[in-house]
Amino acid sequence: MRTGVWLVGARGSVATTSIVGGLALRAGLTGPAGCVTELPELRGPALPAFSDLVFGGHDVATTPLVKRAETLAVAGVLPGRLVAALLDELAAVEQELRPAPAGATQADRAAAAVRDLTDFRDRHRLERVVVVNVSATEPAVRPHPGHADPAALHAALTSPDEVLPASSLYAYAALTAGCPYVDFTPSTGARLPALHALAVERGLPYGGHDGKTGETLVKSVLAPMFAMRNLTVHTWSGLNLLGGGDGANLADPAANAAKVESKQRVLGETLGYVPQGDTRIDFVEELGDFKTAWDLITFSGFLGTRMRMEFTWHGCDSALAAPLVLDLARLTAAAHAGGHVGPLEELAFFFKDPLGGPTHSLAEQWTRLAEFTRRLHADRGSADGHAG
Ligand SMILES: NC(=O)c1ccc[n+]([C@@H]2O[C@H](COP(=O)([O-])OP(=O)(O)OC[C@H]3O[C@@H](n4cnc5c(N)ncnc54)[C@H](O)[C@@H]3O)[C@@H](O)[C@H]2O)c1
Repeated sequence: MRTGVWLVGARGSVATTSIVGGLALRAGLTGPAGCVTELPELRGPALPAFSDLVFGGHDVATTPLVKRAETLAVAGVLPGRLVAALLDELAAVEQELRPAPAGATQADRAAAAVRDLTDFRDRHRLERVVVVNVSATEPAVRPHPGHADPAALHAALTSPDEVLPASSLYAYAALTAGCPYVDFTPSTGARLPALHALAVERGLPYGGHDGKTGETLVKSVLAPMFAMRNLTVHTWSGLNLLGGGDGANLADPAANAAKVESKQRVLGETLGYVPQGDTRIDFVEELGDFKTAWDLITFSGFLGTRMRMEFTWHGCDSALAAPLVLDLARLTAAAHAGGHVGPLEELAFFFKDPLGGPTHSLAEQWTRLAEFTRRLHADRGSADGHAG
């Protein structure tokens, strides 16, 4: 099941770590720690093997992939021995990276992206290509009448206006090229009525939003605990300090606001009320890809007795995110092969701000994911049985 993984933001930290990790798994140079699709509850025949994954992508930056990998190795994100062992494989992936599409109108840029995707699929004889957005977080989208339905969108894109933010233009190109689309960022991506309708029209699934890898992952475990023990949470304040490209981008107030909104949603939706307090994200260049999150929670229990808890999380963001990117590519490929269309709510386990958002409890999301994957494997098994 040869599967393309097309990364938007392919020269960024998360993408580079995903590519190095995917190549290292294929070469048997590392184990699958952090990849949930390798757990016994999720593993099975519907998922493409790591050795089936072929990487490509778009980026506005031009830094060679090997240089990005070496920089991440010096920073302690990647083991240097893996980068040294994979120089030939990284040079081959470099040949599959394309500059961000250019053109006078957004229709022209989308057409160029569609050509890049279909050329990649044809050149490598891939069964399908999953497009995963791991590019810089954008500010919230500005409404436009073209967002309403596919016909309005096709017409609007030929105007000189900036109708779609970049993440949504890549989603439009992916769906037009017949590729499922996953958004690992809080950006708008496929979350517009016109793009949902286009996905349904083309029979394609899409997933998102915003990978859950650090502070919000811990929140999605702790918040249900407070709710289930009927403890009242009065305040929940979080401070995230991070460097790297993501941190630098989030120093922009508009991108920061989009990310903070995505991180706070879990509390209101799990507890049923919003405790006092904010989540802050501050850029501290020196920290690079290693993020520190510090949270203070105050709560009360029986007879109103006041209590508090604090936690500190020191995570390597890209090392936490990259295995999930590989998981999402494998699961979305299997969902596409299994005929799933529209938003993949079953992938909520992976996201801070999941599509459909039926529950923010990590345990419930896990049960739903395991059930979904079990059905994908069973359907694949019976299809193989019929074919045989
Ligand atoms: N690392 C995590 O744990 C984590 C978790 C959730 C979400 N995310 C999101 O993943 C994304 C990537 O994070 P990162 O640390 O790799 O950031 P990064 O800054 O290292 O990489 C982003 C890449 O996107 C490229 N880019 C920017 N605009 C583009 C465009 N229009 N077209 C193509 N490429 C473009 C940049 O050149 C850069 O190479 C961010 O949006 C971040 O919020 C990361």
